[in-house]
Amino acid sequence: MATNGESGNGKRKLPKAAPAGTFEGESMNRRAALMVGGQVLAGGAIAVVALPTIGFALAPVFKEKGDFWQSVGSVDQYSADEYTATVITAVEGTGESGKTTAYVRLGNEELKEDPNSVVAVSTRCAHLGCAVRFVAAAGNFICPCHGGVYGFQGERIGGPPVRPLDRFQTRVRDGEVEIGPRYSVTNSFEPVRARDPGEFTGGVWNVIYPPRPSVPPAP
Ligand code: FES
Repeated sequence: MATNGESGNGKRKLPKAAPAGTFEGESMNRRAALMVGGQVLAGGAIAVVALPTIGFALAPVFKEKGDFWQSVGSVDQYSADEYTATVITAVEGTGESGKTTAYVRLGNEELKEDPNSVVAVSTRCAHLGCAVRFVAAAGNFICPCHGGVYGFQGERIGGPPVRPLDRFQTRVRDGEVEIGPRYSVTNSFEPVRARDPGEFTGGVWNVIYPPRPSVPPAP
Protein backbone atom coordinates (compact mmCIF):
# COMPACT_ATOMS: atom_id res chain seq x y z
CA MET A 1 0.00 0.00 0.00
CA ALA A 2 1.43 3.43 -0.99
CA THR A 3 1.87 6.00 1.78
CA ASN A 4 3.38 9.52 2.19
CA GLY A 5 2.79 10.54 -1.44
CA GLU A 6 4.47 7.43 -2.77
CA SER A 7 2.97 5.78 -5.83
CA GLY A 8 2.27 2.10 -6.04
CA ASN A 9 5.73 1.40 -7.50
CA GLY A 10 7.41 3.10 -4.57
CA LYS A 11 8.31 6.40 -6.33
CA ARG A 12 7.37 9.71 -4.68
CA LYS A 13 4.78 11.83 -6.57
CA LEU A 14 6.10 15.27 -7.55
CA PRO A 15 3.87 18.32 -6.77
CA LYS A 16 2.08 19.71 -9.80
CA ALA A 17 4.23 22.42 -11.41
CA ALA A 18 2.80 25.94 -11.75
CA PRO A 19 2.68 27.37 -15.28
CA ALA A 20 5.82 29.21 -16.34
CA GLY A 21 5.89 32.89 -15.47
CA THR A 22 3.47 32.69 -12.56
CA PHE A 23 4.26 33.79 -9.08
CA GLU A 24 3.44 31.88 -6.00
CA GLY A 25 -0.10 32.67 -4.91
CA GLU A 26 -1.07 34.21 -8.23
CA SER A 27 -4.61 33.45 -9.27
CA MET A 28 -5.11 31.67 -12.62
CA ASN A 29 -8.53 33.31 -12.87
CA ARG A 30 -6.81 36.64 -13.34
CA ARG A 31 -4.70 35.29 -16.19
CA ALA A 32 -7.80 33.87 -17.85
CA ALA A 33 -9.58 37.19 -17.49
CA LEU A 34 -6.65 39.00 -19.14
CA MET A 35 -6.68 36.49 -21.99
CA VAL A 36 -10.44 36.92 -22.56
CA GLY A 37 -10.07 40.69 -22.35
CA GLY A 38 -7.32 40.58 -24.98
CA GLN A 39 -9.48 38.47 -27.28
CA VAL A 40 -12.40 40.87 -26.88
CA LEU A 41 -10.18 43.83 -27.74
CA ALA A 42 -8.77 42.01 -30.79
CA GLY A 43 -12.30 41.11 -31.93
CA GLY A 44 -13.38 44.72 -31.52
CA ALA A 45 -10.42 45.95 -33.58
CA ILE A 46 -11.24 43.49 -36.38
CA ALA A 47 -14.90 44.56 -36.31
CA VAL A 48 -13.94 48.25 -36.57
CA VAL A 49 -12.04 47.49 -39.77
CA ALA A 50 -14.30 44.82 -41.29
CA LEU A 51 -17.84 46.09 -40.64
CA PRO A 52 -17.58 49.35 -42.62
CA THR A 53 -15.99 47.42 -45.50
CA ILE A 54 -18.82 44.89 -45.54
CA GLY A 55 -21.35 47.71 -45.22
CA PHE A 56 -19.94 49.58 -48.22
CA ALA A 57 -19.90 46.38 -50.26
CA LEU A 58 -23.50 45.39 -49.50
CA ALA A 59 -25.19 48.79 -49.38
CA PRO A 60 -25.83 49.02 -53.15
CA VAL A 61 -27.64 45.68 -53.04
CA PHE A 62 -30.17 46.93 -50.49
CA LYS A 63 -30.45 50.55 -51.60
CA GLU A 64 -33.61 50.84 -53.67
CA LYS A 65 -32.98 52.74 -56.87
CA GLY A 66 -35.19 55.74 -57.39
CA ASP A 67 -37.50 56.00 -60.38
CA PHE A 68 -35.61 57.15 -63.44
CA TRP A 69 -37.75 58.29 -66.37
CA GLN A 70 -36.47 59.43 -69.74
CA SER A 71 -38.24 60.88 -72.75
CA VAL A 72 -37.96 58.91 -76.01
CA GLY A 73 -39.84 61.25 -78.31
CA SER A 74 -43.34 62.07 -79.45
CA VAL A 75 -46.04 59.45 -79.13
CA ASP A 76 -46.94 60.12 -82.79
CA GLN A 77 -43.78 58.45 -84.00
CA TYR A 78 -44.82 55.06 -82.64
CA SER A 79 -47.20 52.53 -84.17
CA ALA A 80 -49.27 49.69 -82.73
CA ASP A 81 -48.26 47.26 -85.48
CA GLU A 82 -44.51 47.49 -85.45
CA TYR A 83 -41.71 48.13 -83.04
CA THR A 84 -39.32 51.06 -83.13
CA ALA A 85 -35.83 50.24 -81.85
CA THR A 86 -35.10 53.01 -79.34
CA VAL A 87 -31.81 53.69 -77.57
CA ILE A 88 -32.32 54.38 -73.89
CA THR A 89 -30.12 54.88 -70.84
CA ALA A 90 -30.24 51.78 -68.66
CA VAL A 91 -27.61 52.86 -66.12
CA GLU A 92 -27.31 56.54 -65.28
CA GLY A 93 -23.93 58.28 -65.22
CA THR A 94 -22.03 55.65 -67.21
CA GLY A 95 -22.10 57.27 -70.64
CA GLU A 96 -22.39 55.12 -73.74
CA SER A 97 -21.71 51.90 -71.83
CA GLY A 98 -24.91 52.48 -69.83
CA LYS A 99 -27.12 52.59 -72.91
CA THR A 100 -29.28 49.78 -74.26
CA THR A 101 -32.04 49.32 -76.82
CA ALA A 102 -35.74 48.93 -76.10
CA TYR A 103 -38.35 47.98 -78.70
CA VAL A 104 -41.23 50.43 -78.36
CA ARG A 105 -44.74 50.38 -79.83
CA LEU A 106 -48.26 51.48 -78.91
CA GLY A 107 -50.78 49.14 -77.32
CA ASN A 108 -52.56 46.94 -79.88
CA GLU A 109 -56.29 46.35 -79.44
CA GLU A 110 -56.13 43.13 -81.47
CA LEU A 111 -53.83 41.79 -78.76
CA LYS A 112 -56.27 42.95 -76.04
CA GLU A 113 -53.93 45.79 -75.05
CA ASP A 114 -54.95 49.31 -74.08
CA PRO A 115 -54.55 51.42 -77.28
CA ASN A 116 -53.56 54.38 -75.12
CA SER A 117 -50.69 52.45 -73.57
CA VAL A 118 -47.09 52.16 -74.75
CA VAL A 119 -45.24 48.85 -74.72
CA ALA A 120 -41.44 48.91 -74.31
CA VAL A 121 -39.76 45.51 -74.55
CA SER A 122 -36.24 44.88 -73.24
CA THR A 123 -33.65 43.38 -75.57
CA ARG A 124 -32.01 41.39 -72.79
CA CYS A 125 -32.64 37.68 -73.34
CA ALA A 126 -34.28 35.93 -70.39
CA HIS A 127 -31.92 32.97 -70.77
CA LEU A 128 -28.41 34.36 -70.22
CA GLY A 129 -28.81 38.00 -71.15
CA CYS A 130 -27.64 38.22 -74.78
CA ALA A 131 -29.15 41.02 -76.87
CA VAL A 132 -32.20 39.85 -78.83
CA ARG A 133 -33.26 41.41 -82.14
CA PHE A 134 -36.77 41.90 -83.51
CA VAL A 135 -37.09 40.35 -86.97
CA ALA A 136 -40.00 42.17 -88.60
CA ALA A 137 -40.42 39.58 -91.37
CA ALA A 138 -41.03 36.83 -88.82
CA GLY A 139 -42.70 39.05 -86.23
CA ASN A 140 -40.46 37.46 -83.60
CA PHE A 141 -37.60 38.39 -81.33
CA ILE A 142 -34.60 36.15 -82.00
CA CYS A 143 -31.65 35.58 -79.69
CA PRO A 144 -28.40 34.83 -81.57
CA CYS A 145 -26.69 33.06 -78.68
CA HIS A 146 -28.64 29.83 -78.13
CA GLY A 147 -31.62 30.13 -80.46
CA GLY A 148 -34.14 31.62 -78.08
CA VAL A 149 -37.31 32.79 -79.87
CA TYR A 150 -39.99 35.13 -78.53
CA GLY A 151 -43.31 36.12 -80.09
CA PHE A 152 -44.52 39.61 -81.00
CA GLN A 153 -45.38 40.49 -77.39
CA GLY A 154 -42.15 39.03 -76.06
CA GLU A 155 -43.67 35.72 -75.00
CA ARG A 156 -41.32 32.75 -74.98
CA ILE A 157 -42.05 30.40 -77.87
CA GLY A 158 -38.83 28.44 -78.31
CA GLY A 159 -35.32 27.68 -77.09
CA PRO A 160 -33.89 27.86 -73.58
CA PRO A 161 -35.29 31.21 -72.24
CA VAL A 162 -37.23 30.68 -69.03
CA ARG A 163 -39.72 33.55 -69.18
CA PRO A 164 -40.97 36.31 -71.52
CA LEU A 165 -38.77 39.29 -72.33
CA ASP A 166 -38.70 41.96 -69.65
CA ARG A 167 -40.42 45.30 -70.18
CA PHE A 168 -39.96 48.90 -69.15
CA GLN A 169 -42.61 50.98 -67.45
CA THR A 170 -43.98 53.64 -69.77
CA ARG A 171 -46.14 56.76 -69.60
CA VAL A 172 -47.12 59.63 -71.89
CA ARG A 173 -46.58 63.19 -70.65
CA ASP A 174 -47.50 66.18 -72.86
CA GLY A 175 -47.46 63.97 -75.92
CA GLU A 176 -44.01 62.59 -75.12
CA VAL A 177 -43.37 58.92 -74.41
CA GLU A 178 -41.35 58.36 -71.25
CA ILE A 179 -39.64 55.13 -70.30
CA GLY A 180 -39.10 54.16 -66.66
CA PRO A 181 -37.73 51.24 -64.65
CA ARG A 182 -37.47 47.71 -66.04
CA TYR A 183 -39.74 44.96 -64.73
CA SER A 184 -40.28 41.29 -65.51
CA VAL A 185 -43.51 39.51 -66.43
CA THR A 186 -44.94 36.04 -65.91
CA ASN A 187 -45.97 33.85 -68.83
CA SER A 188 -49.43 35.47 -68.58
CA PHE A 189 -47.84 38.96 -68.64
CA GLU A 190 -48.50 39.74 -65.00
CA PRO A 191 -45.87 42.28 -63.94
CA VAL A 192 -43.40 41.33 -61.21
CA ARG A 193 -40.28 43.06 -59.95
CA ALA A 194 -37.34 42.77 -62.31
CA ARG A 195 -35.47 39.48 -62.21
CA ASP A 196 -32.09 38.51 -63.61
CA PRO A 197 -31.65 36.33 -66.69
CA GLY A 198 -32.26 32.66 -66.03
CA GLU A 199 -34.78 33.30 -63.24
CA PHE A 200 -38.31 31.97 -63.66
CA THR A 201 -41.34 34.10 -62.76
CA GLY A 202 -44.89 33.34 -61.66
CA GLY A 203 -46.39 31.26 -58.84
CA VAL A 204 -43.89 29.61 -56.56
CA TRP A 205 -41.00 30.80 -58.75
CA ASN A 206 -41.58 34.33 -57.42
CA VAL A 207 -40.57 32.96 -54.02
CA ILE A 208 -37.77 30.69 -55.20
CA TYR A 209 -36.24 33.56 -57.19
CA PRO A 210 -36.86 36.64 -55.00
CA PRO A 211 -35.99 40.03 -56.52
CA ARG A 212 -32.97 41.97 -55.37
CA PRO A 213 -33.95 44.47 -52.62
CA SER A 214 -32.69 47.37 -54.77
CA VAL A 215 -35.17 46.65 -57.58
CA PRO A 216 -38.12 49.10 -57.84
CA PRO A 217 -41.66 47.72 -57.44
CA ALA A 218 -43.46 46.43 -60.54
CA PRO A 219 -46.17 48.71 -62.00
S1 FES B 1 -28.88 34.00 -74.11
FE1 FES B 1 -30.61 34.03 -75.40
S2 FES B 1 -31.01 31.95 -75.81
FE2 FES B 1 -29.29 31.92 -74.50
